[in-house]
Amino acid sequence: MTGNLDGKVAVITGAGSGIGRAIAQALASEGGRIAVADVVAASGQQTVNLIKDAGGEAIFIKCDVSHAEEIEELIHNVVKHYGRLDCAVNNAGIAGVQATTVDYPLENWQKVIDINLTAPWLCMKYEIAQMLKQGKGAIVNIASILGVTGIALSSAYVAAKHGLVGATRTAALEYANQGIRINAVCPGFIETPMLENSEVGTNPQIRQVIASLHPIGRMGKPEEIAAMVLWLCSDAASFVTGAAMLVDGGYTAQ
Ligand code: NAI
Repeated sequence: MTGNLDGKVAVITGAGSGIGRAIAQALASEGGRIAVADVVAASGQQTVNLIKDAGGEAIFIKCDVSHAEEIEELIHNVVKHYGRLDCAVNNAGIAGVQATTVDYPLENWQKVIDINLTAPWLCMKYEIAQMLKQGKGAIVNIASILGVTGIALSSAYVAAKHGLVGATRTAALEYANQGIRINAVCPGFIETPMLENSEVGTNPQIRQVIASLHPIGRMGKPEEIAAMVLWLCSDAASFVTGAAMLVDGGYTAQ
């Protein structure tokens, strides 16, 4: 299989569901050799099967990104299997509870920060170290429109995603002249299991209100985020680094 990624090795965290799965499939369909990482083995393996059924190449590596040593091991195992690492998409994330700041439980704050901010930062640490050895690489962090705007009742998520945009810009500046491009993608509300299992997904009235916040008139689809990630990973984006790319149906243009 040949395409925009043509044999490049890509690791995607949280690739067992939603946006991560769509990214894994898109990168594989363009010739990428994929490492699917997820804390849930069954769904990660299902993504691998979908890729293989479509004629692509993929392996599953179990990884809980809330454990630093598992992230180091993940990157080690990707390189052990494929011999290199060209692209990395740090996508795994959780929504956290909905509560005002006064009522927000510290334990949940810590968990959201660990998985949505500390984990992608740790991923970058090990991914960049490998890419420096190769003199080239592309990293994409999946942030959110909530990395550039606020929303009530989600202080931990909003803080983590804002932090991730900052960590992306900082790392991009540090390695821009060493062949490594690092960008963030900021999706609007996307129809994935994360969203479907939340109040937005289960309450038709809230769903309609959220959809109407996007001037395009609907929420996004995982494939529409994957298309941006694929482009950022490809050489077509060779002059793009340190960017926070909005894929949000116009949400933040208002
Ligand atoms: P999802 O819930 O459908 O998929 C998330 C995946 O991450 C799951 O396969 C899950 O098992 C995995 N995961 C969770 N915790 C993990 C851990 N500790 N270690 C390894 N894997 C773990 O969610 P979705 O919607 O696909 O979200 C993907 C990313 O996109 C997240 O970072 C999310 O914050 C972001 N995002 C989602 C939006 C949406 O509306 N769905 C909007 C903007 C950003």
